Amino acid sequence: MMSQLDLFSGIYQNKKILLTGHTGFKGSWMAIWLRELGAEVHGYALEPTAEKDNFVTTNLSKKIYNRFGDVRDKEALQNYFDEVKPDMAFHMAAQPLVIDSYNNPHYNFETNLMGTVNFFEAVRNCPSVKVAINVTTDKCYQNNEWVWGYRENDPMGGDDPYSASKGCSELITNSYIKSFFSKEGKAHVASGRAGNVIGGGDWAENRVIPDMMRAHNANQTLVIRNPNSVRPWQFVLEPVFGYMRLGEKLFLQGKTFSGGWNFGPAAFENYSVHDVVLEVKKSIPTLKVDAPKVTDKLHEAGLLKLDITKAVNQLNWKPKLNFEQTIKFTVDGYIQENEQEADVYKSRVKQIKEYCLMNN
Ligand SMILES: NC(=O)c1ccc[n+]([C@@H]2O[C@H](COP(=O)([O-])OP(=O)(O)OC[C@H]3O[C@@H](n4cnc5c(N)ncnc54)[C@H](O)[C@@H]3O)[C@@H](O)[C@H]2O)c1
Repeated sequence: MMSQLDLFSGIYQNKKILLTGHTGFKGSWMAIWLRELGAEVHGYALEPTAEKDNFVTTNLSKKIYNRFGDVRDKEALQNYFDEVKPDMAFHMAAQPLVIDSYNNPHYNFETNLMGTVNFFEAVRNCPSVKVAINVTTDKCYQNNEWVWGYRENDPMGGDDPYSASKGCSELITNSYIKSFFSKEGKAHVASGRAGNVIGGGDWAENRVIPDMMRAHNANQTLVIRNPNSVRPWQFVLEPVFGYMRLGEKLFLQGKTFSGGWNFGPAAFENYSVHDVVLEVKKSIPTLKVDAPKVTDKLHEAGLLKLDITKAVNQLNWKPKLNFEQTIKFTVDGYIQENEQEADVYKSRVKQIKEYCLMNN
């Protein structure tokens, strides 16, 4: 009998899945979901950086196969692919923060460009791989600062080093698809574009919800810099569901599903940082936040929205949670981590189950 967690026609059961970036926020959630589906999960990434990282609190190093390594090290990554001989590979290892990309653009470009090249070289030289997916971001698009959502065939771009590196990562993906993976018998390759993902276990610096939770745990007041900023808030399992559904379609139906795919909230879900604060306060009334008064809800420089029509129509994927549910799942995730003697792994599995049972 297929488990409640299986939204993927059972294809991940007993498959070898190689995940780069499994020690990170999204990667660790995906590793848990895959493991619960009966996949043999192999992770390649840098070591976790904090005790609170989801990878650490869920004790994942004891539950999946684990190799600490750098994606800039072409040989080490290739050796790992050769050793594991995965059926499918997902590339999530990246320098993921805009601020850090300004501080160290060289590292950012090396990791996000050459890391992607090294990933596709490893896939190309490893005949066991049937499906490979590169995870990028909504910021890969040339931002025209307009209100309409970006479609998969809009031009790539990016002004800051992080966005530019992800636009390049998309161009690299397209080049490998066209140059090396177009013939039958070669791996089926695609990319997933999502933005502003939130959920328990994310403790990255300079992200608004982790900053809020850090301040709350330390009984401090958080000063919000940009309360008017509207962002495509998404619970972490929404894009992960998208990447895994894309993997399923590529595995079962092949190259018609190659190329780029957007995974974002529904078009009418437009919420600001200020809205997030109000919603979080419903679950944590003692949260202390200081924000400049909101005067103009409409103005938002840098607004970037994704058009998800393609994924909704062709992958049969769509967001399961509305804004209130997104924030509730997120805050619950942080609260569960804080509980004394919490089994965080079990609580993550419980949330995945709850998520799978949500209607959509
Ligand atoms: N979290 C978001 O809101 C968001 C939004 C859009 C796109 N993304 C993308 O999703 C992916 C995962 O992001 P995340 O939020 O989980 O980030 P994260 O920082 O939590 O995890 C990043 C992962 O990449 C690994 N990594 C970084 N540099 C590496 C290197 N040189 N060699 C090997 N591994 C390396 C880290 O060890 C970690 O496992 C990234 O590609 C990111 O750009 C994230």
